[in-house]
Amino acid sequence: MSGSLRQAIDATTRYCAVLGHPIKHSASPALQNAGLAALGLNWRYLAFDVPPALLRDALAGAKAMRFVGLNLTVPHKLLACDMVDTLDESAVSWGAVNTIRFEAQDGAGAWVPLPCLGGVPPGAVRSRGFNTDADALVRSLRQSLGLDLAGMKVLLLGAGGAGRVAALKLATERVAHLFLVNRTRSKAEALAEEIRSRCPPTTVTVGYPAPRVDLVLNATSLGLGAEDPAPFDEAQFSLSRAAAAYDMIYRPAETRFLRAAKAAGCRAANGLGMLLYQGAQALEIWTGRSAPVEVMRRALEAEVYGT
Ligand code: ATR
Repeated sequence: MSGSLRQAIDATTRYCAVLGHPIKHSASPALQNAGLAALGLNWRYLAFDVPPALLRDALAGAKAMRFVGLNLTVPHKLLACDMVDTLDESAVSWGAVNTIRFEAQDGAGAWVPLPCLGGVPPGAVRSRGFNTDADALVRSLRQSLGLDLAGMKVLLLGAGGAGRVAALKLATERVAHLFLVNRTRSKAEALAEEIRSRCPPTTVTVGYPAPRVDLVLNATSLGLGAEDPAPFDEAQFSLSRAAAAYDMIYRPAETRFLRAAKAAGCRAANGLGMLLYQGAQALEIWTGRSAPVEVMRRALEAEVYGT
Protein backbone atom coordinates (compact mmCIF):
# COMPACT_ATOMS: atom_id res chain seq x y z
CA MET A 1 0.00 0.00 0.00
CA SER A 2 1.43 3.40 -0.85
CA GLY A 3 2.47 5.77 1.93
CA SER A 4 -0.12 8.32 0.81
CA LEU A 5 -2.99 6.00 1.76
CA ARG A 6 -1.54 5.51 5.22
CA GLN A 7 -2.55 7.72 8.12
CA ALA A 8 0.19 10.21 8.99
CA ILE A 9 2.11 9.64 12.21
CA ASP A 10 0.53 11.62 15.04
CA ALA A 11 0.28 11.47 18.81
CA THR A 12 -2.06 8.44 18.65
CA THR A 13 0.26 6.31 16.50
CA ARG A 14 1.22 3.01 18.17
CA TYR A 15 4.55 1.24 17.66
CA CYS A 16 5.95 -2.23 17.23
CA ALA A 17 9.59 -3.00 16.47
CA VAL A 18 12.13 -5.70 15.79
CA LEU A 19 15.26 -5.77 17.95
CA GLY A 20 18.38 -7.54 16.76
CA HIS A 21 22.14 -7.18 16.41
CA PRO A 22 22.85 -6.62 13.57
CA ILE A 23 19.46 -5.52 12.19
CA LYS A 24 20.00 -3.53 9.02
CA HIS A 25 19.13 -6.42 6.66
CA SER A 26 15.87 -7.24 8.43
CA ALA A 27 12.88 -7.60 6.10
CA SER A 28 10.43 -7.39 9.01
CA PRO A 29 9.67 -3.64 8.74
CA ALA A 30 8.59 -4.05 5.09
CA LEU A 31 6.59 -7.18 5.95
CA GLN A 32 4.82 -5.75 9.00
CA ASN A 33 4.20 -2.21 7.79
CA ALA A 34 2.46 -3.65 4.71
CA GLY A 35 0.27 -5.74 7.01
CA LEU A 36 -0.50 -2.84 9.36
CA ALA A 37 -1.41 -0.55 6.45
CA ALA A 38 -3.69 -3.19 4.93
CA LEU A 39 -5.46 -3.53 8.28
CA GLY A 40 -5.94 0.26 8.35
CA LEU A 41 -4.15 0.65 11.67
CA ASN A 42 -2.34 3.84 12.62
CA TRP A 43 0.61 1.78 13.87
CA ARG A 44 4.20 1.68 12.67
CA TYR A 45 6.80 -1.06 12.83
CA LEU A 46 10.41 0.01 13.43
CA ALA A 47 13.80 -1.73 13.62
CA PHE A 48 16.47 -1.15 16.26
CA ASP A 49 20.04 -2.42 16.51
CA VAL A 50 20.28 -3.48 20.17
CA PRO A 51 23.39 -5.27 21.43
CA PRO A 52 22.68 -8.12 23.86
CA ALA A 53 24.03 -6.16 26.85
CA LEU A 54 21.30 -3.55 26.29
CA LEU A 55 18.39 -5.90 25.57
CA ARG A 56 16.94 -5.64 29.08
CA ASP A 57 17.00 -1.82 28.92
CA ALA A 58 15.44 -1.85 25.44
CA LEU A 59 12.57 -4.10 26.60
CA ALA A 60 11.94 -1.81 29.58
CA GLY A 61 11.97 1.24 27.31
CA ALA A 62 9.47 -0.29 24.88
CA LYS A 63 7.23 -1.22 27.81
CA ALA A 64 7.45 2.29 29.30
CA MET A 65 6.57 3.83 25.93
CA ARG A 66 3.57 1.50 25.59
CA PHE A 67 4.76 -0.22 22.44
CA VAL A 68 2.21 -2.75 21.23
CA GLY A 69 4.79 -5.47 20.81
CA LEU A 70 8.21 -6.53 19.62
CA ASN A 71 9.90 -9.13 17.49
CA LEU A 72 13.31 -10.43 18.50
CA THR A 73 15.90 -11.83 16.17
CA VAL A 74 19.51 -13.01 16.43
CA PRO A 75 21.01 -13.00 19.07
CA HIS A 76 18.11 -12.23 21.44
CA LYS A 77 15.67 -15.14 21.22
CA LEU A 78 17.14 -17.23 24.05
CA LEU A 79 18.22 -14.32 26.25
CA ALA A 80 14.73 -12.84 26.29
CA CYS A 81 13.24 -15.93 27.98
CA ASP A 82 14.63 -14.61 31.26
CA MET A 83 13.70 -10.99 30.60
CA VAL A 84 9.97 -11.06 29.88
CA ASP A 85 7.40 -10.98 32.67
CA THR A 86 5.52 -14.06 31.51
CA LEU A 87 5.91 -16.75 28.86
CA ASP A 88 3.24 -18.11 26.56
CA GLU A 89 3.21 -21.90 26.20
CA SER A 90 4.78 -21.58 22.73
CA ALA A 91 7.87 -19.88 24.17
CA VAL A 92 8.09 -22.43 26.99
CA SER A 93 7.88 -25.32 24.48
CA TRP A 94 10.63 -24.07 22.22
CA GLY A 95 12.75 -22.31 24.83
CA ALA A 96 12.97 -19.14 22.76
CA VAL A 97 11.04 -15.88 22.35
CA ASN A 98 10.66 -14.22 18.94
CA THR A 99 7.52 -12.19 19.70
CA ILE A 100 6.56 -10.05 22.71
CA ARG A 101 3.16 -8.56 23.43
CA PHE A 102 2.68 -5.83 26.01
CA GLU A 103 -0.45 -6.34 28.10
CA ALA A 104 -2.38 -4.68 30.92
CA GLN A 105 -5.44 -5.62 32.96
CA ASP A 106 -8.91 -4.62 31.85
CA GLY A 107 -11.74 -3.70 34.25
CA ALA A 108 -12.42 -7.40 34.95
CA GLY A 109 -8.77 -8.08 35.78
CA ALA A 110 -7.99 -10.02 32.57
CA TRP A 111 -4.64 -9.33 30.87
CA VAL A 112 -5.33 -7.95 27.39
CA PRO A 113 -3.15 -6.42 24.63
CA LEU A 114 -2.52 -2.71 25.28
CA PRO A 115 -4.41 -1.42 22.20
CA CYS A 116 -7.60 -3.07 23.56
CA LEU A 117 -7.53 -0.61 26.45
CA GLY A 118 -7.51 2.57 24.39
CA GLY A 119 -5.75 5.15 26.54
CA VAL A 120 -3.02 4.77 29.14
CA PRO A 121 -3.70 1.67 31.25
CA PRO A 122 -4.31 2.42 34.93
CA GLY A 123 -2.27 -0.50 36.26
CA ALA A 124 1.01 -2.22 35.50
CA VAL A 125 2.04 -3.27 32.01
CA ARG A 126 3.59 -6.71 31.53
CA SER A 127 5.51 -8.30 28.66
CA ARG A 128 4.46 -11.73 27.41
CA GLY A 129 6.86 -13.81 25.30
CA PHE A 130 5.67 -16.02 22.43
CA ASN A 131 7.36 -18.11 19.78
CA THR A 132 5.90 -18.16 16.28
CA ASP A 133 8.88 -19.76 14.45
CA ALA A 134 7.93 -23.40 14.95
CA ASP A 135 4.34 -23.05 13.68
CA ALA A 136 5.66 -21.00 10.77
CA LEU A 137 7.96 -23.81 9.65
CA VAL A 138 5.13 -26.34 9.55
CA ARG A 139 2.79 -23.92 7.79
CA SER A 140 5.47 -23.16 5.21
CA LEU A 141 6.23 -26.84 4.59
CA ARG A 142 2.54 -27.46 4.05
CA GLN A 143 1.96 -24.40 1.86
CA SER A 144 5.16 -24.53 -0.24
CA LEU A 145 5.66 -28.29 -0.53
CA GLY A 146 2.22 -29.73 0.22
CA LEU A 147 3.67 -31.77 3.08
CA ASP A 148 1.62 -33.35 5.84
CA LEU A 149 4.40 -34.32 8.23
CA ALA A 150 2.68 -37.07 10.21
CA GLY A 151 4.26 -40.44 9.41
CA MET A 152 7.07 -38.99 7.26
CA LYS A 153 10.80 -39.74 7.22
CA VAL A 154 12.84 -36.54 7.49
CA LEU A 155 16.58 -35.82 7.31
CA LEU A 156 17.29 -32.68 9.32
CA LEU A 157 20.63 -30.94 8.78
CA GLY A 158 21.70 -28.78 11.73
CA ALA A 159 21.25 -28.89 15.49
CA GLY A 160 21.87 -25.23 16.37
CA GLY A 161 19.14 -22.86 17.56
CA ALA A 162 16.99 -23.16 14.42
CA GLY A 163 17.65 -26.90 14.04
CA ARG A 164 16.62 -27.64 17.60
CA VAL A 165 13.25 -25.89 17.25
CA ALA A 166 12.68 -27.57 13.87
CA ALA A 167 13.49 -31.03 15.24
CA LEU A 168 11.22 -30.68 18.26
CA LYS A 169 8.38 -29.27 16.17
CA LEU A 170 8.68 -32.03 13.55
CA ALA A 171 8.50 -34.58 16.34
CA THR A 172 5.37 -32.99 17.82
CA GLU A 173 3.87 -33.16 14.31
CA ARG A 174 4.41 -36.93 14.59
CA VAL A 175 7.10 -37.40 11.99
CA ALA A 176 7.72 -41.18 12.00
CA HIS A 177 11.52 -41.14 11.72
CA LEU A 178 13.87 -38.21 12.16
CA PHE A 179 17.50 -38.48 11.02
CA LEU A 180 19.68 -35.80 12.62
CA VAL A 181 23.01 -34.71 11.15
CA ASN A 182 25.18 -31.94 12.57
CA ARG A 183 28.84 -30.97 12.17
CA THR A 184 29.19 -31.23 15.95
CA ARG A 185 27.77 -34.70 16.46
CA SER A 186 27.39 -34.32 20.23
CA LYS A 187 24.78 -31.57 19.69
CA ALA A 188 22.74 -33.89 17.45
CA GLU A 189 23.01 -36.63 20.07
CA ALA A 190 21.82 -34.32 22.86
CA LEU A 191 18.91 -33.20 20.69
CA ALA A 192 18.02 -36.81 19.87
CA GLU A 193 17.87 -37.57 23.60
CA GLU A 194 15.63 -34.57 24.19
CA ILE A 195 13.23 -35.72 21.47
CA ARG A 196 13.19 -39.28 22.79
CA SER A 197 12.13 -38.02 26.22
CA ARG A 198 9.66 -35.37 25.01
CA CYS A 199 8.17 -37.01 21.90
CA PRO A 200 8.59 -40.78 22.23
CA PRO A 201 6.47 -41.79 19.18
CA THR A 202 9.12 -40.37 16.82
CA THR A 203 12.11 -42.61 16.12
CA VAL A 204 15.32 -40.55 16.12
CA THR A 205 18.62 -41.60 14.59
CA VAL A 206 21.81 -39.57 14.55
CA GLY A 207 23.33 -40.00 11.09
CA TYR A 208 22.30 -40.36 7.46
CA PRO A 209 19.29 -42.46 6.40
CA ALA A 210 19.75 -45.59 4.33
CA PRO A 211 16.29 -45.59 2.73
CA ARG A 212 14.52 -42.80 0.92
CA VAL A 213 13.23 -39.83 2.89
CA ASP A 214 10.19 -37.64 2.29
CA LEU A 215 12.02 -34.43 3.17
CA VAL A 216 15.54 -33.05 3.64
CA LEU A 217 15.54 -29.84 5.66
CA ASN A 218 18.56 -27.53 5.89
CA ALA A 219 18.70 -25.72 9.24
CA THR A 220 22.44 -25.02 9.10
CA SER A 221 23.87 -21.67 8.05
CA LEU A 222 25.66 -23.31 5.09
CA GLY A 223 24.40 -21.69 1.90
CA LEU A 224 24.34 -18.12 3.15
CA GLY A 225 27.70 -17.68 1.42
CA ALA A 226 27.94 -18.30 -2.33
CA GLU A 227 31.06 -20.41 -1.86
CA ASP A 228 29.69 -22.52 1.01
CA PRO A 229 29.92 -26.30 0.61
CA ALA A 230 26.79 -28.49 0.64
CA PRO A 231 25.23 -28.77 4.11
CA PHE A 232 25.59 -32.58 4.02
CA ASP A 233 28.23 -35.14 3.10
CA GLU A 234 27.63 -36.01 -0.53
CA ALA A 235 29.53 -39.27 -0.08
CA GLN A 236 26.98 -40.40 2.51
CA PHE A 237 23.70 -39.08 1.12
CA SER A 238 22.30 -38.27 -2.31
CA LEU A 239 19.41 -35.90 -2.95
CA SER A 240 18.05 -38.44 -5.44
CA ARG A 241 16.89 -40.32 -2.31
CA ALA A 242 14.65 -37.41 -1.20
CA ALA A 243 11.18 -36.43 -2.42
CA ALA A 244 11.34 -32.83 -1.18
CA ALA A 245 13.90 -30.32 0.06
CA TYR A 246 13.46 -27.21 2.19
CA ASP A 247 16.12 -24.65 2.99
CA MET A 248 15.47 -22.30 5.93
CA ILE A 249 17.76 -19.84 4.14
CA TYR A 250 15.84 -17.42 1.89
CA ARG A 251 18.66 -15.08 0.83
CA PRO A 252 19.97 -16.15 -1.68
CA ALA A 253 16.60 -17.36 -3.00
CA GLU A 254 18.23 -20.49 -4.42
CA THR A 255 21.12 -21.94 -2.48
CA ARG A 256 23.43 -24.54 -3.91
CA PHE A 257 21.48 -27.09 -1.83
CA LEU A 258 18.13 -26.12 -3.42
CA ARG A 259 19.65 -26.01 -6.91
CA ALA A 260 21.01 -29.52 -6.46
CA ALA A 261 17.69 -30.70 -5.01
CA LYS A 262 15.76 -29.43 -8.03
CA ALA A 263 18.29 -31.03 -10.38
CA ALA A 264 17.74 -34.32 -8.53
CA GLY A 265 13.98 -34.05 -9.10
CA CYS A 266 12.95 -32.97 -5.56
CA ARG A 267 10.16 -30.52 -4.87
CA ALA A 268 12.03 -27.60 -3.32
CA ALA A 269 11.30 -24.43 -1.34
CA ASN A 270 13.28 -21.80 0.51
CA GLY A 271 12.63 -20.26 3.93
CA LEU A 272 10.79 -17.13 2.82
CA GLY A 273 7.47 -18.72 3.76
CA MET A 274 8.74 -19.36 7.28
CA LEU A 275 9.68 -15.68 7.62
CA LEU A 276 6.28 -14.68 6.27
CA TYR A 277 4.26 -16.92 8.58
CA GLN A 278 6.20 -16.12 11.76
CA GLY A 279 5.49 -12.45 11.03
CA ALA A 280 1.85 -13.03 10.15
CA GLN A 281 1.28 -14.89 13.42
CA ALA A 282 3.04 -12.12 15.38
CA LEU A 283 0.74 -9.55 13.77
CA GLU A 284 -2.26 -11.66 14.80
CA ILE A 285 -0.95 -11.86 18.38
CA TRP A 286 -0.71 -8.05 18.53
CA THR A 287 -3.93 -7.15 16.70
CA GLY A 288 -6.25 -10.08 17.43
CA ARG A 289 -7.17 -9.97 13.73
CA SER A 290 -6.38 -12.21 10.76
CA ALA A 291 -3.17 -11.16 9.06
CA PRO A 292 -3.42 -10.05 5.40
CA VAL A 293 -1.00 -12.79 4.38
CA GLU A 294 -0.96 -12.22 0.62
CA VAL A 295 -0.30 -8.48 1.02
CA MET A 296 2.52 -9.33 3.42
CA ARG A 297 3.93 -11.97 1.05
CA ARG A 298 4.12 -9.49 -1.84
CA ALA A 299 5.80 -6.89 0.38
CA LEU A 300 8.31 -9.46 1.58
CA GLU A 301 9.15 -10.66 -1.93
CA ALA A 302 9.59 -7.07 -3.10
CA GLU A 303 11.86 -6.29 -0.15
CA VAL A 304 13.99 -9.42 -0.32
CA TYR A 305 14.12 -10.14 -4.05
CA GLY A 306 13.17 -6.76 -5.53
CA THR A 307 10.33 -8.38 -7.50
P1 ATR B 1 20.90 -20.77 14.19
O1 ATR B 1 20.27 -20.07 15.34
O2 ATR B 1 20.73 -20.08 12.87
O3 ATR B 1 20.54 -22.20 14.14
P2 ATR B 1 23.43 -21.64 15.28
O4 ATR B 1 22.75 -22.03 16.54
O5 ATR B 1 24.74 -20.95 15.34
O6 ATR B 1 22.49 -20.66 14.44
O7 ATR B 1 23.53 -22.94 14.36
C1 ATR B 1 24.21 -22.94 13.13
C2 ATR B 1 24.12 -24.35 12.53
O8 ATR B 1 24.88 -24.38 11.30
C3 ATR B 1 24.71 -25.42 13.41
O9 ATR B 1 24.05 -26.64 13.12
C4 ATR B 1 26.16 -25.46 12.94
O10 ATR B 1 26.85 -26.65 13.23
P3 ATR B 1 27.60 -26.79 14.66
O11 ATR B 1 26.54 -27.12 15.68
O12 ATR B 1 28.57 -27.91 14.48
O13 ATR B 1 28.27 -25.47 14.94
C5 ATR B 1 25.95 -25.33 11.45
N1 ATR B 1 27.16 -24.84 10.78
C6 ATR B 1 27.62 -23.58 10.81
N2 ATR B 1 28.76 -23.50 10.08
C7 ATR B 1 29.02 -24.74 9.60
C8 ATR B 1 30.02 -25.32 8.78
N3 ATR B 1 31.02 -24.59 8.29
N4 ATR B 1 29.94 -26.64 8.47
C9 ATR B 1 28.93 -27.39 8.94
N5 ATR B 1 27.93 -26.91 9.72
C10 ATR B 1 27.97 -25.60 10.05
